[in-house]
Amino acid sequence: MTLQGCSVILRSNPMVIVEKKSTMLKDIRLNSHLLTVPAYIGGKPIEQVQEDYGLTDVIKLGSNENSLGPSPLAVAAFQDALQNAHRYPGIADKHLRQKLATCFNAAGGAPLSDANFMTANGLSDFLRQLAHAFLFDGGESIYCNPTFPLYPIFTKMFGGTPVAVLHRDFRYNLAAMGDAITERTRVMFICNPNNPTGTTVTRAEVETLMARVPPSIVVVFDESYYDFVDDPAYSNALDYVRAGQDNVIVLRSFSKVYGLANLRIGYAIATAPMIEYLQHAQIVFNTGDPVLRAAMAALDDTAHVQRVRRLVQTEREYLYRGFEELGLTCVPSQANFILLTQLPRDVKTLDRELLTRGIIVRPMGGFGMPDAIRVTIGTHPENERLLNALKEIL
Ligand SMILES: Cc1ncc(COP(=O)(O)O)c(C=O)c1O
Repeated sequence: MTLQGCSVILRSNPMVIVEKKSTMLKDIRLNSHLLTVPAYIGGKPIEQVQEDYGLTDVIKLGSNENSLGPSPLAVAAFQDALQNAHRYPGIADKHLRQKLATCFNAAGGAPLSDANFMTANGLSDFLRQLAHAFLFDGGESIYCNPTFPLYPIFTKMFGGTPVAVLHRDFRYNLAAMGDAITERTRVMFICNPNNPTGTTVTRAEVETLMARVPPSIVVVFDESYYDFVDDPAYSNALDYVRAGQDNVIVLRSFSKVYGLANLRIGYAIATAPMIEYLQHAQIVFNTGDPVLRAAMAALDDTAHVQRVRRLVQTEREYLYRGFEELGLTCVPSQANFILLTQLPRDVKTLDRELLTRGIIVRPMGGFGMPDAIRVTIGTHPENERLLNALKEIL
């Protein structure tokens, strides 16, 4: 089969970068959807930069990880569960879902049970499941660029059609998303806070949009960075699930505030019938007991979560001040990263200069913003090192 050029339908945004993929397989019938999937360009690993630049002291501020690491309780739980590594996963998944229900119910509101939760091998895995479940036969997904690239990637993987609308002042443009609804729309992705801009949508904006969304369209609130938000106007998507609205799914990750990115665990919250349907797209034993038990222990370590949250919120302000002193433009963030835009130097050169100094950040070309970089908020010494390096380079 020959290569198909890959394109995303852009109703109003010319910025998304997509890549062609080729294959040398000539005799085997291939899935044409897979050949049109844009490549995901991930952040550079520390080891690679150490090798490439002959460095030992490298810091990574490129993938929105937790610079304080996991809770020691999570590490101990993981190690303990390894003793049963020879067994297939047991009841830990149910226990984690029960624990999540207890944690959420402590905050009040209509009660949730384990039947409202579904764990996944990272939210990335869950986004794939969602696309499998709803974006067949060319169904459309709507999202707002720039945002997390896996939404169009998974949409295309399963034969769906991604529809991107353009942001407004780096914020998710829910009004434009509402305008983009057609009879082919199946899913709307709302990344809140949005990666890579760090901006949020408000409760009022979500309410206005939801009043326009028919019950046949699934609205996915990707809240991977929920724990870093301090804006009181932030929307509460969970209210829709608590009210029994089947077409709303809320996603939360253990990769960020809980520092378990390498263990690959996240979860979805939805009504019980929705969760039951989504299980049809789930791979059996997709998460192992060591990971599930580490996640449970991470939930228990509320002091660690508070430490991480405080660090991010304090260091956000420190970085804003530092960027301002350097004359750099950044987007105020509600997440554990900050987007720098309109950089005064070519981003490729700037990135290389930072890498030679052992600092990994994320150039935003793959997110459709060639003149921007995204910086993860690190520990204070890491942030200081970044600001000093930028001062030297600029
Ligand atoms: C907005 C958003 N959604 C989902 C994910 C995937 O998270 P996970 O590590 O749980 O797969 C990320 C990861 O950075 C993200 O930024």
